[in-house]
Amino acid sequence: MVKLRFLVKKKKKSVLNRIIDFFSRSSYTAYLVGGFVRDTIMGETTKDIDISVQGDAIKAGYSLNSVLKGKAEIHKQFGTISICKDNMRIDLATTRKETYPYPGALPKITQSNIYEDLKRRDFSVNAIALCISKNNLGKIFDPFDGIGDIRRRLIRVLHNNSFIDDPTRILRALRYKNRLKFKLEASTESLLREAVSKRMLEKISKQRLMNELKLIFAEKDYLDILNDLKHYRIFTFNKRYLKNINAMEDLKYYYFLCLIGTKNFPLSNQEKKIVKDLNKLTTLGRLVRNARNNATLYFTLSVIDDKVVKIIPKVYPELKQKIRQYNSLKKNKPFIDGKDLQKLNIKPGPRFKEILTRMYKLQLNGKIKSKKMALTFLKNG
Ligand code: CTP
Repeated sequence: MVKLRFLVKKKKKSVLNRIIDFFSRSSYTAYLVGGFVRDTIMGETTKDIDISVQGDAIKAGYSLNSVLKGKAEIHKQFGTISICKDNMRIDLATTRKETYPYPGALPKITQSNIYEDLKRRDFSVNAIALCISKNNLGKIFDPFDGIGDIRRRLIRVLHNNSFIDDPTRILRALRYKNRLKFKLEASTESLLREAVSKRMLEKISKQRLMNELKLIFAEKDYLDILNDLKHYRIFTFNKRYLKNINAMEDLKYYYFLCLIGTKNFPLSNQEKKIVKDLNKLTTLGRLVRNARNNATLYFTLSVIDDKVVKIIPKVYPELKQKIRQYNSLKKNKPFIDGKDLQKLNIKPGPRFKEILTRMYKLQLNGKIKSKKMALTFLKNG
C-alpha cells in the first residue's frame, strides 16, 4: 500500500486534490492511470490526468465536474468524458478490455476491471494504476512491474502481440524511449524489429500514422526519435536532409513528410501545397539567390505558400535580405487593374492577365512610377 501523500500538492485547492477528494468520498471505484502515474512516480509534472472508472465513466465525470466546474465534453461513442480546468485536461474512461479484430484495426471494447484495463495498454510504465476510491485509497496496482521498469529505465511491452495489434506502438515506443531517456527492453526491441520487418505500420490508417508523426514533432528530442526511425528502418530517408530540419520551425513535420513521401496521406489542400513547395526548397533557394530584379524575385515567391517563404531565410540565412525585399514588394498595390483595361476598351480574356502581369513587372522594377505613367504607357501600346 503506497500512501497518496506524495501526490497531494502543497496547494490544498489544486485540481488533483479536488479530484482525489471527490472520488474518495464517492461510491465510484476510480484509478489514476497512464502517463500521469508514470510521470508522477518519476517526479515529473503533467497537465493531463487519466482516470479509469469501474462503471459509468460519463456519469462519474459529470458529477466530478459539478465540483470542478470546468468545461466538460462527452464522447458518447467511446464512453468517455474530458474535462478542461485550469489548463489541465482530465480524461475519464470506463475500465475496459480490448480485442483487435485484425492487426492495426481499432479495438473492440468491452467493460472490465482494472486488471484487464491495465493489461490492454502499450507499455509496462503506462500500465500502473493508483486507486483514489475510499476502499483502497492510495493503493498502487502494478501487475506488470511498471515501477520496476521505471527504476531500470526500460520500455517494455506487455505481450508478444502488442506491436502487431497496434502498430502505432512502434512509434510510441521510440517516442517514450527518447523522451524519458529509457532503453527498449531486449525482447521488446526484437518484437519491434519483427513488426517493422512485417511492415505492420502499413496496416494502420494514414490518418493515425499522421497523428503519431505529429506527436513526434511535438517532442523536445524529436531529432533523436528521427534517428531511431532511420536506425530501425521504419522509414528510409537520407540522414543528411535532417541537417536542415531544425531551421524548419513549425514546418518540421511537413518537411519530414517530403522526405518519406505522402502517397495516400489525407492532407488538406493547404498541406499538400506546403509539402509541394518544401520539396522545391533547394531550387527555390537558387532562384531567389539568382533573382536579378524585383519582378523576378516577386514572381518566383508569390506562387509559394507564405509559411514556406518564411522559413527560407532560416534555412538560407544569406537570403534574409532578399526575403525582406520580397515582403516589401508585396505591399505594392498594382497601379493597373482589370477595370482600367476595360476602360481602355481591351476585351476581357487571357490577354488581360498577360497585360496586367507585364505592367506589374514594370512597376516592381521601377520602370513605371505612377498610375498616370502606367495609363500613358498602355495608351501608347
Ligand atoms: N495507450 C495504449 N496504447 C496506445 C495509446 C495509448 O495502451 N496506442 C494507453 C497508455 O496506457 C497510455 C494511455 O493510454 O498511458 C494514455 O495515452 P496517451 O495520452 O497517448 O499517453 P500518455 O501516457 O498520457 O503519455 P503522454 O505523456 O505522451 O501524453
